[in-house]
Amino acid sequence: MPRYHPRSMRIEHATHDDFLEILRDVADFWSSSGPPTRTLPYHYPFLVHEFADTAFVVREGDVVIAYLFGFVATAELVGYIHLVGVRAAYQGTGLGRALYEHFAAVARERGCTHLRAVTAPFNTDSQAFHAAIGFEATGPSQTPAGLPIYPEYHGPGEDVIIFSKPLAEA
Ligand SMILES: CC(C)(COP(=O)(O)OP(=O)(O)OC[C@H]1O[C@@H](n2cnc3c(N)ncnc32)[C@H](O)[C@@H]1OP(=O)(O)O)[C@@H](O)C(=O)NCCC(=O)NCCS
Repeated sequence: MPRYHPRSMRIEHATHDDFLEILRDVADFWSSSGPPTRTLPYHYPFLVHEFADTAFVVREGDVVIAYLFGFVATAELVGYIHLVGVRAAYQGTGLGRALYEHFAAVARERGCTHLRAVTAPFNTDSQAFHAAIGFEATGPSQTPAGLPIYPEYHGPGEDVIIFSKPLAEA
């Protein structure tokens, strides 16, 4: 599989049909990070409707091979990446990095100074990905292994790691 580069691929806005395709094939995008039934409920339709300008897909032919659903949060001006997924056969080819770079450029243009994303402590692939692209793990508490976490961020018993990255001036 060739490596993808932001300038050699088309990153487009997600449509409702893309959203339906992603939900149908959610297992293909998320099988490496726990049961897809865990992730499915986080795919809110408002992400591609109300936040349509920060919902992106990469297609090969008619097929969505990667997506990023984010938004610009306004309590603090932060570019928040809510979901990113790459089809299993395309993981490790640069698509995740390219989608983050694309989103970062949009967030910077809107005045954001940081990017933020959250990940489950068991999702070690996501942790490795975020570390590789320059994010720092943060959280007010630590696991016994020293992993920073935000306890119960996602509800009772659902800790997360908060990943943060400053946005350099363009
Ligand atoms: C995590 C995910 C989005 C990463 O996207 P990707 O396209 O596979 O990653 P990329 O190819 O862009 O990799 C970017 C960097 O991260 C590193 N990386 C990615 N996945 C990694 C892994 N599992 N282990 C170690 N490093 C990893 C790559 O080596 C690369 O580093 P480099 O550019 O210095 O070589 C993708 O694997 C995925 O969809 N996983 C399942 C869903 C998921 O867990 N989403 C994130 C939840 S928050």
